[in-house]
Amino acid sequence: MIGVCSGRPVSITGLGCYVPKRVLTNDELAQRVDTSDEWIQTRTGIKERRIAAPEEATSDLSIPAAKAALADAALTGAEIDLVIVATITADMPFPSTAAILANQLGAESAAAYDLLAGCTGFVYALTQGYGAIAAGLARRVLVVGADTLSRVVDWSDRSTCVLFGDGAGAVVLEEVEAGGFHAFELGADGAGEMELFMPAGGSRRPSSAETVAAGEHYVKMNGREVYKFATRVLSSSAQAVLEASGRSIADIDLYVPHQANLRIIEHAAKKLGIEKERVFVNVDRYGNTSSASIPLALCEARQEGRLKDGTLVLMTGMGAGLTWGSSVITWSGGRDNEH
Ligand code: UT7
Repeated sequence: MIGVCSGRPVSITGLGCYVPKRVLTNDELAQRVDTSDEWIQTRTGIKERRIAAPEEATSDLSIPAAKAALADAALTGAEIDLVIVATITADMPFPSTAAILANQLGAESAAAYDLLAGCTGFVYALTQGYGAIAAGLARRVLVVGADTLSRVVDWSDRSTCVLFGDGAGAVVLEEVEAGGFHAFELGADGAGEMELFMPAGGSRRPSSAETVAAGEHYVKMNGREVYKFATRVLSSSAQAVLEASGRSIADIDLYVPHQANLRIIEHAAKKLGIEKERVFVNVDRYGNTSSASIPLALCEARQEGRLKDGTLVLMTGMGAGLTWGSSVITWSGGRDNEH
């Protein structure tokens, strides 16, 4: 799916994020599984990640991120029409984490649902939020990307447990005077379903003592295939959305790719022809936070003064599905873009 945003401009007017306090270092992981700080840093660029406290579920990570985004947009929860939470680690299979969050925020007149598109979830959810506003169905949309991957990672599997971390990021979308989203490009290739998945807990393999004993409620990943997929789609999706938006990579001020692996990011940046000064990277401190990765990166980019009114941003996500998604946005409409 590819689309150009031709109606009234819609932008991100509020931004917030939250990460749990607990830092898990590579050296600590090396005490649990046969790995090393050197291997993890060389192969992934990750130095440490955050881990949710036992009592923290995905909605608990989402609440402070969402509150910060609402405060940034100078809005209350009651003024939100739609809450979308992109996640693969909902508090529970149902009801949605979005409904739980909306209640916590006092978003009484909001519709609320979760969106599952793996690590691409945030970009998919942005597209939905944009669409609801462009169609006149909603005036203010809260989009959250939040995941607690630490709960579904097999801590005895060194090929996956070193990669992931927990976190949440949130944005408010509203109509603005100028700037905002220019185009979206999204895709899915279900033929890759088994490359990155959780085998049990759904209608195909319901939870049972056997599925638990067989470790089928953990993330399973074919790392090499996902790596190849990621390096391919990060550049192809970015090129497609740039072309649709009438921009070139030379126009982009800030490239925010999904933070899965530094090598994947560097490969994509090289293929796209964008130098590292214009690429945002924080995978070293958080690992792969799935749906939270892009909004967390946007949050930190702004804290570092790299995201201001007028900044042209390219973001691309990719992940389970297999899915991918990109958007180009002129950052605009934020009420306080320099804190
Ligand atoms: O949002 C999307 C989510 N996923 C991704 O983006 C992941 C994409 N894939 C990757 O990032 C990489 O494939 C990995 C980081 C997962 C693996 O890196 P790699 O360079 O592709 O390593 P590999 O899978 O080819 O494994 C090389 C070796 C293997 O040993 P042998 O078979 O050569 O003896 C692995 O067993 O490294 C071994 N290995 C490890 N060694 C130390 C795998 N994980 C570890 C580890 N520590 N944590």
